[in-house]
Amino acid sequence: MSLSGKKIILGITGSIAAYKTPHLVRLLVKAGAEVRVVATKAATDFVSPLALATVSKNPVLTDMTNGAEWNNHVALGLWADAMLVAPCSANTMGKMANGICDNLLCAVYLSLRCPVWIAPAMDEDMWAHPSTKANLGKLLSYGNRLIPVGNGELASGLSGPGRMAEPEEITDHLAKWFGGQKLPLSGLNALVTAGPTFEKIDPVRFIGNFSTGKMGVALAESLAEKGASVTLVAGPIHLAITGKNIKLVQVESAEEMYNACHASFAECDIAILAAAVADYKPADTATEKIKKKDQELTLKLVKTQDILASLGKIKRHDQSLIGFALETNNELQHAAQKLEQKNADMIVLNSLKDEGAGFGHDTNKVTVLTRNGKTCALPLLSKKETADAIINQITEMRNAK
Ligand code: CTP
Repeated sequence: MSLSGKKIILGITGSIAAYKTPHLVRLLVKAGAEVRVVATKAATDFVSPLALATVSKNPVLTDMTNGAEWNNHVALGLWADAMLVAPCSANTMGKMANGICDNLLCAVYLSLRCPVWIAPAMDEDMWAHPSTKANLGKLLSYGNRLIPVGNGELASGLSGPGRMAEPEEITDHLAKWFGGQKLPLSGLNALVTAGPTFEKIDPVRFIGNFSTGKMGVALAESLAEKGASVTLVAGPIHLAITGKNIKLVQVESAEEMYNACHASFAECDIAILAAAVADYKPADTATEKIKKKDQELTLKLVKTQDILASLGKIKRHDQSLIGFALETNNELQHAAQKLEQKNADMIVLNSLKDEGAGFGHDTNKVTVLTRNGKTCALPLLSKKETADAIINQITEMRNAK
């Protein structure tokens, strides 16, 4: 059974069963999941963060801040497909049931929108206590899921119910649930544009830009992983496209990109225009190479068609249209204008002022603006993580329609 591509936040709390969590992480990773660990301070008395970081290949988060940086619980929540709190102590069950938010684990839990599982672990009497039962009842009534406790020898020396389910059972439980789940975007068609466009001056020269297409390809891969059939219309890029279910349509100029997008837009449910399309192209393309003659050469440029705005004009209510905005000043204001003027449902704002963001980098830092006036600033993430967070927001926006 597989957890392939699933992103899981493992919350670990203070219980002796925490010593089993490096093995649990190993099993989850072996099943194909990507795991990020959020541990309470008490958990670190029972299990070493170094062991967890090593097996999860990600740093273990325990505090709201990490030196100079804030551990963004909202972004973590957007990244995740599931949260698993294992072991879940009586104390953390009580906090989760009552909205208490005095550590990072609880803050992540409160800001999540994905399914949450708890695998409680405590002594028999604590498990049987009416307050624990009441908290469990509340947690289940909020839609959280329980991985039942086991029966057997407990750390107190007693024997009875209260043991955390074994890591194998927990992994199976999640894999079975995901196996029975339809992927969130299955049955949907998506269109993505990526990369630069090249506008020919003559047979050997062009006007282009520095876009590499990394962000668009990451979006296409994230959409495909979540079940969508993707048409990726790409300008001249040099990237391997690994995702299944991605049909690559290669184009060169803004005009070719416009035509390719219009050819598939009617069938698509989600269109994300991430390409850096040339705004101007030479009025005429010389048929022969332009020879070097005078001191100055003037090129006459004419506007290209705005693909995003043209799709905004014909967009149906059931379609989601997402654009990008690359800005260097008054970023939010310009992005909001693009949202309105191009009739998009969402604009992903890239600011070139942010270090690690923009063309060519493997990371990005974006702010997402939606039509309902919401803005969400994501931290610096890899382009794939940024893509996953954007796709999760699009899915939510569609579900809320
Ligand atoms: N876009 C497009 N067709 C164009 C130009 C841009 O589809 N001819 C799309 C981009 O793919 C992006 C969005 O429009 O999704 C905004 O692109 P951007 O370059 O930020 O803005 P422009 O509209 O070109 O405006 P300006 O360059 O003046 O900021």
